[in-house]
Amino acid sequence: MGKILFNDVRKTDNYTKNISMLFSDYELFRNKHFSELCKLHLNKHYKESSLFLTHSATGALEMIALLLDIKPGDEIIMPSFTYVSTANAFVSLGATPVFVDINQETLNIDDTLIELAITPKTKAVVAMHYAGLSNNLNVIKSICIKNNLYLIEDAAMAYGNKDDLKPLGTIGDFGVISFDITKHISAIQGGLLIINNKTFAHRASNIYHIGTNREDFNSKKTAHYEWVDLGLKFQMNELSAATLYDDLLNEEKIISHRKTLSEIYYNLLSHLEEQGKLKLINKPFLKDNIHEFFLILNTTEERDALAQYLLQCNIEAYFHYLPLHGSPMGKKYKFVGSGLCTKVSECLIRLPLHNNLTLSDIHSVCKSVDHYFINNA
Ligand SMILES: Cc1ncc(COP(=O)(O)O)c(C=O)c1O
Repeated sequence: MGKILFNDVRKTDNYTKNISMLFSDYELFRNKHFSELCKLHLNKHYKESSLFLTHSATGALEMIALLLDIKPGDEIIMPSFTYVSTANAFVSLGATPVFVDINQETLNIDDTLIELAITPKTKAVVAMHYAGLSNNLNVIKSICIKNNLYLIEDAAMAYGNKDDLKPLGTIGDFGVISFDITKHISAIQGGLLIINNKTFAHRASNIYHIGTNREDFNSKKTAHYEWVDLGLKFQMNELSAATLYDDLLNEEKIISHRKTLSEIYYNLLSHLEEQGKLKLINKPFLKDNIHEFFLILNTTEERDALAQYLLQCNIEAYFHYLPLHGSPMGKKYKFVGSGLCTKVSECLIRLPLHNNLTLSDIHSVCKSVDHYFINNA
């Protein structure tokens, strides 16, 4: 049996076809052919929002920090159990992240702790949708409105998911999506900034166009094309857009395949949860948990031993975020909570989940997980 990879690139000839097409005609590069097609497609999902295709979700978060005029002393509330980019975007402009613990069921920020973290310096709350599973945005949004704070959705892992009827990323003032190679819909490297608070849309366009009024000039709203604001290069590379476009056209198939694989994982492993050997995601969340399939073991030793055993069986399985408040860089910042995120992080393992996995691969992974527990009963 070949190695069962944790993640893989989708098998299709369309990526290379799209890229060859670009190289056949410079005009396609100049006109940002695939970026425009991606935007047309994305506009159908995010009808009310202003969209900016970026080189990464990291870049989209950095753009938000610029738009919010983040200054030293500003405080940004976020879960500790998140990726470094969530914090770096704000820290790089001098802000102080305030880390909050997670909710045991969803592994998202514990919204009952958010108000304890608010001070007069708080400027925004970041709700990160772990594994694509929605935060309770009604609750978080009302806390933000009551306290006059901006709400940022870090929906890096959540493309394709909704909170009731609205796509994740469209409920806060801002949303970001990642189209990295590690994500289910990929540009190899890419991201999306979703601006829902209209007051920021015009300035976002200037910053996105490297501080110029290019959009106003192109739409003849101004006679001069000039430098009007600060700007950085956040735009998506056209080669990435050529890749992303094919994934977007196939998004329903891709997401549905992942949901099927997740359900099979769940059904084949639920007896281990019944025996108290591990914890699975709550069954009703399965339909939304599109980014990854994880197990939470009882101890770190068991988690590490299982990962080691799976590797011996030629199966890749990995841990995930290390809570930021416990990291060398994050230790100097405030943490609100009891440390549940540390326990979860130390016991969590993610199983392979990608487009090229077959049902028989999932059966092999589950058989190996079973064997591990039989051998270590
Ligand atoms: C929660 C979260 N936010 C932001 C990012 C950054 O995404 P990107 O790699 O597209 O910059 C990641 C990456 O995995 C992430 O997990």
